[in-house]
Amino acid sequence: HTLEMELESIEKGGYEHFMLKEIFEQPRSVHDSMRGRVNSATGHLLLGGLREYLNKMIHARRIIIIGCGTSWHAGLVAEYIFEEFARVPVEVEYASEFRYRNPIINEGDVVIAISQSGETADTLAAIELAKSKGAIIFGVCNVVGSSIPRATHAGAYTHAGPEIGVASTKAFTAQVVVLTMMGIILAKAKGTISETDYRKLLVELETIPEKIEKILSNHKQIEYISDLFKEARNFLFLGRGYNFPVALEGALKLKEISYIHAEGYPAAEMKHGPIALIDEEMPVVFIATKDSSYEKIVSNIQEVRARKGRVIAVVTENDKLISQMAEFIIEIPHTHEALMPLLSVIPLQLLSYYIAVMRGCNVDQPRNLAKSVTVE
Ligand code: G6P
Repeated sequence: HTLEMELESIEKGGYEHFMLKEIFEQPRSVHDSMRGRVNSATGHLLLGGLREYLNKMIHARRIIIIGCGTSWHAGLVAEYIFEEFARVPVEVEYASEFRYRNPIINEGDVVIAISQSGETADTLAAIELAKSKGAIIFGVCNVVGSSIPRATHAGAYTHAGPEIGVASTKAFTAQVVVLTMMGIILAKAKGTISETDYRKLLVELETIPEKIEKILSNHKQIEYISDLFKEARNFLFLGRGYNFPVALEGALKLKEISYIHAEGYPAAEMKHGPIALIDEEMPVVFIATKDSSYEKIVSNIQEVRARKGRVIAVVTENDKLISQMAEFIIEIPHTHEALMPLLSVIPLQLLSYYIAVMRGCNVDQPRNLAKSVTVE
């Protein structure tokens, strides 16, 4: 038994939990997911597994993305990227819903299945269904040789390395990186992306690891904020545009490991419900980086402040306006709007981690949850 414990502490590489280790590994894992695939200097962008079927993707009338949990959130980010740059209609579906509602799939439709483990039963069954109806299936998986990559026509591995913590962190950012590359490759092949945008995205992609590093170096501040909010009974996470899926992911992380009830919402939907919940006891995390919806989210923050909600805002460095409105701000570096989820999710992972630890929860193995769900 002691040997087992020693082995485990070696595997954790000096970190108290696998989850924390995996959060801190992200500069590296994001880099690994791009290695040999992106080169902004030469304009090179390649996913080997995509080549053979790229033509099918170019001619696809629509793309259906399926996944569960955090992988489904990565799919939502991909929806924004594929639609904006590759101008193809995208639907993102929970694999469990998709497989049971007699979905309309036509010959030539493209399905992208996202799964860290490559073993999720619902995702696997959804793939088999879509395949039987003539769809082309791409996999975006982390575990090499797992069932999903074997069931798909083609795909790309995320190369995040083994993820042990039940709550997904580095697998998510790796999925978003791979899906982003896929979207840009498709956009380039279709001619729907400008040369400027193409170059800019490649350059920015390469800077993501160092920017994540910078956010991580601020962990003490996030730990401090966590301490002040650890007794909260509820949390709201709000974001717009590319940061909307990040709001969902932030809420999921918190509920998974701290057992605090949390909801993620598109900030504009607040007025259709969640605003009724806001009082002096409701912490609201805004993901409010400087992007095309900045002004709108600033007014959402004011609406929460007017009702005495407690605002924690993830903002772009040197944001002067929101720092006067929010109780706490967490600054992150600027990047291309489409890549922001790769940065804005990091402080939310840390926030949920610290809160869960402070509440005495088992962060690596939260109650009732499994790392891979191989039954439905
Ligand atoms: C479980 C895990 C989640 C994960 C989801 C999908 O619920 O606890 O962290 O996001 O399954 O798993 P997959 O391996 O398909 O990405």
